[in-house]
Amino acid sequence: MAEDKLFNYYERQDVLPTFGNFKSSTELEAYASQRRELFSDKLVLPPRLFRDADVLEFGPDSGENALVFAGWGANMTLAEPNRHAHPKIHAYFAHFGLTQRLRELALADVEGFSSDRRFDMIDAEGFIYTVRPSEKWLGIFHRLLNPDGYAVVSYYERYGGFFELALKAIHAAGKALTGRAPLETAKLLFEAKWDSIPHTRSFESWLMDVLENPFVRHRYFLDAATLCAAAHQQGFDVHSAWPAYRDSLDIYWHKKVLSGDEKLHRATHHLDRSRLSFLGGRKLYLVGKADAVQAISASIEALVLDVDGMIDDPFGASLPRVIAGLASLRETIRTTDVLADDAADIEAIIATLDSFHRIFGAIGRRDVSAVTALTQADPAFINTWGQPAHFLVIRKR
Ligand SMILES: C[S@@+](CC[C@H](N)C(=O)[O-])C[C@H]1O[C@@H](n2cnc3c(N)ncnc32)[C@H](O)[C@@H]1O
Repeated sequence: MAEDKLFNYYERQDVLPTFGNFKSSTELEAYASQRRELFSDKLVLPPRLFRDADVLEFGPDSGENALVFAGWGANMTLAEPNRHAHPKIHAYFAHFGLTQRLRELALADVEGFSSDRRFDMIDAEGFIYTVRPSEKWLGIFHRLLNPDGYAVVSYYERYGGFFELALKAIHAAGKALTGRAPLETAKLLFEAKWDSIPHTRSFESWLMDVLENPFVRHRYFLDAATLCAAAHQQGFDVHSAWPAYRDSLDIYWHKKVLSGDEKLHRATHHLDRSRLSFLGGRKLYLVGKADAVQAISASIEALVLDVDGMIDDPFGASLPRVIAGLASLRETIRTTDVLADDAADIEAIIATLDSFHRIFGAIGRRDVSAVTALTQADPAFINTWGQPAHFLVIRKR
């Protein structure tokens, strides 16, 4: 069934997408220190900035992030369109003694929320890519922010999301080959992979939020450079991003002031060269000539589109293209100028592409036991997640 909005999809589910079920302050503290690291170190927004700030969070789900902001001293306004999350949010704020920091909890989405107030900070993580075009939410955020106010968003990046789409394609093939239910098939394929990293949410939430989520698709994924250009157009400067969108190797005199256009131009150039890093989730910077960078970028783009096509039709025309594309990217990397910390990083991406190549080959042979043997045991498959979630912080000019 075609879905209208992401939150309508969530509202029909038995589980909330990110509910962490924190009970003790130790659990909340552990989560808060992860967030501190993200905000201070990666996004250059130290928690001190949140003290007594008016923060608007869109899409808090059960409210774990909102609790952390409130713990840093922020006054929270929350807009969550999924009514099932509201009792959880109230219960959480009461349980952790933070109710006085919850100014308002609105049953509204980004487009439906209205307020005469202006905010110092807006946070919208995990869904903003479904509000299209991006100019729509950028305009709304611009109106709701004080001058110099920040907006923090996380989104699915088009090339970083490759392995996420590949997992969905393998899951789609697995369901068709085994005739089993989505959860059973996902466990059969991905339990070892899921168990290999610490999570705050359940396997069932991941199944619903990623593997079965109709919005986790190429057509919703955003191209980082296009998003930066749209933000610039709508009156924002890029403050920070993770992974970094600014070329940190760039050096010039500290008194030289670059125009906004020049900064955007340099960031775009850097992003073009970062596509393979985004895909692989590690430093694999394309340092060759511009046409070599264009060629490898185009092949990554085609591969992402083809793997997305397999989600609807796992044994259709995209499958042989994915198999050939994985082999060709694996070979191209061997002969491309790539800046990595270590030869082992290049070997690792080659091993991963090889692993996915073998998995999709086994799908082509309809050999489900070969598929599961690889997905449950091959370290190159188990250890790679790519860089699907990107964070961008923009500042209202
Ligand atoms: C994947 S969850 C992320 C929750 C939390 N922000 C986090 O990052 O852990 C996305 C949340 O955004 C909400 N949501 C989806 N579409 C939305 C929209 N257009 N406006 C506001 N919230 C939305 C959903 O109901 C859900 O609670």
